[in-house]
Amino acid sequence: MPRQLIAGNWKMNGLTVPGARLAGAIREAVAAAPPPCDLLICPPFTLVGTLAHVMLGSGVAVGAQDCHAKPAGAHTGDVSAPMLKDAGATAVILGHSERRTEPGEREAAVRATAGAGRAAGLGRIVWVGETLAEREAGRQEAVVAAQLAGSVPEGFPGSGVVAYEPVWAIGTGRTPTEADIAAMHAMIRRVLGERFGATGGRVPILYGGSVKPSNAETILALPEVGGALVGGASLVAEDFLAIAAAAA
Ligand code: PGA
Repeated sequence: MPRQLIAGNWKMNGLTVPGARLAGAIREAVAAAPPPCDLLICPPFTLVGTLAHVMLGSGVAVGAQDCHAKPAGAHTGDVSAPMLKDAGATAVILGHSERRTEPGEREAAVRATAGAGRAAGLGRIVWVGETLAEREAGRQEAVVAAQLAGSVPEGFPGSGVVAYEPVWAIGTGRTPTEADIAAMHAMIRRVLGERFGATGGRVPILYGGSVKPSNAETILALPEVGGALVGGASLVAEDFLAIAAAAA
């Protein structure tokens, strides 16, 4: 089995000085006590280059939180996958629920950005997850299966990662039961296997949504959990590192 991946999603948080300080603290701690997992930090666009510099040679990878589907052109306000690569990113999160609800990205758009990430040589973390209403209606499996079908592009295994985050668990402190997490991960694994065959069996599936030091060990030990996508707790070096230390 590959090492688990603990990915920090800083969201729209981080100015240069405190951001570099947080990254520096993570770098030092990792050098002193290497965690049993791979680490990725995804700051806002403005800090990708700075953090890539801070993390150079540390083994901690730096990623971004979105990219445009085109490599360049008249797209005011957007950033392309080759630009992220150029700034030192090695991966990009795509189709996070906050991008689906705020700018309103749909499956085809997410799939296009994932294709652009691949063309630029970036690892892609494609987000899937159900809302509370969808779970209460018992539709979580159908919703997530449709998201996978719509947003995961061809050629995904190898450098593609799926992040499953129930929307109602993001930033709320609420997490699904262990059985619910295991059931969703098993379903995602089945869907990936049906589509991609044996290589689909090796796509890491991260869990995300209120992962913190107190629940990381339990969640990371569940079957088919290949790591975690961590929001709030990734902004505190101690908490992020405690989660990393809990990797299976
Ligand atoms: P959270 O966010 O860990 O703060 O719940 C996770 C995410 O949205 O990626």
